[in-house]
Amino acid sequence: MRIAATVAEMRAVRRDMTGDVGFVPTLGALHEGHLSLVRAAREQNQHTVASIFVNPTQFGDPDDFASYPRDPERDLALLRDEGVDIVFLPESAEIYPADASTFVEVEHITDTLEGEHRPGHFRGVATVVTKLFQIVRPQRAYFGRKDAQQLAVIRRLVRDLHFDIEIVAVPTVREPDGLAMSSRNALLSVSDRQAALVLSRALRRAEELFAAGERDGETLRSAMRGIIAAEPQAQVDYVSVADTETLRELARVEHAALASLAVRIGGVRLIDNVELKSE
Ligand code: PAJ
Repeated sequence: MRIAATVAEMRAVRRDMTGDVGFVPTLGALHEGHLSLVRAAREQNQHTVASIFVNPTQFGDPDDFASYPRDPERDLALLRDEGVDIVFLPESAEIYPADASTFVEVEHITDTLEGEHRPGHFRGVATVVTKLFQIVRPQRAYFGRKDAQQLAVIRRLVRDLHFDIEIVAVPTVREPDGLAMSSRNALLSVSDRQAALVLSRALRRAEELFAAGERDGETLRSAMRGIIAAEPQAQVDYVSVADTETLRELARVEHAALASLAVRIGGVRLIDNVELKSE
């Protein structure tokens, strides 16, 4: 496994690759969710490139950026075991020159949900992913459904800027008790880890109601809110039942919807989602 620390090095190894390249961008602090993306990339491409870069421009809160878990040695060992060919591990100054003044903004679908609660977040994501796509030049790039709005933003970015890259969506990997895997889970205390189960429990309730025929958006949202309200350590950022394309809140679900939520447990902000879909 090669480690490329600079753009020049990454470009040089990329130039020598023949055959399809699958790319998995990450912030590091890797877990099974990330590794399922790597496995999908390995299955579908001759070469697999992963990146580890804690992108400063997508963190609004400097404390959140500072406290984001970092463990590059462990990450590299995991990626080596998975058979990744190249890890792009740049310093911040390599990606953002001191006088960098170009940013990528995806409009409209970033107005709601995560975009509304984390101003500037998707500008940072779209900018760094654009840069990474330019540097790595993959045939396919892998993103988790765990970050459903991010996936929608990346699909829009690729379409609008004519990137010749196939975006592959990978299902959310969960702990046995239902908690969606996240690098931020490492920041939870033991009691907060238990309280964090409200996210998947609330989504499961929405799935049950939907399966039983409930189609009223507000009824589904308020059932989820009720479950979260019963957990004293949990504080809701948003609870949503939205159109899967536009991410606008639905009064009524016709065939499908994205049920999603963001909840603070202790000081840790967690997100999760499921797609509600009639057979
Ligand atoms: P990060 O949070 O490290 O996630 C990297 C990729 O792993 C994302 O596509 C995310 O959706 C996916 N992922 C995270 N948890 C998952 C889970 N439990 N199951 C399946 N996939 C999961 O998302 C980012 O980094 C950044 O915004 C990035 C795209 C790298 C740009 O900086």
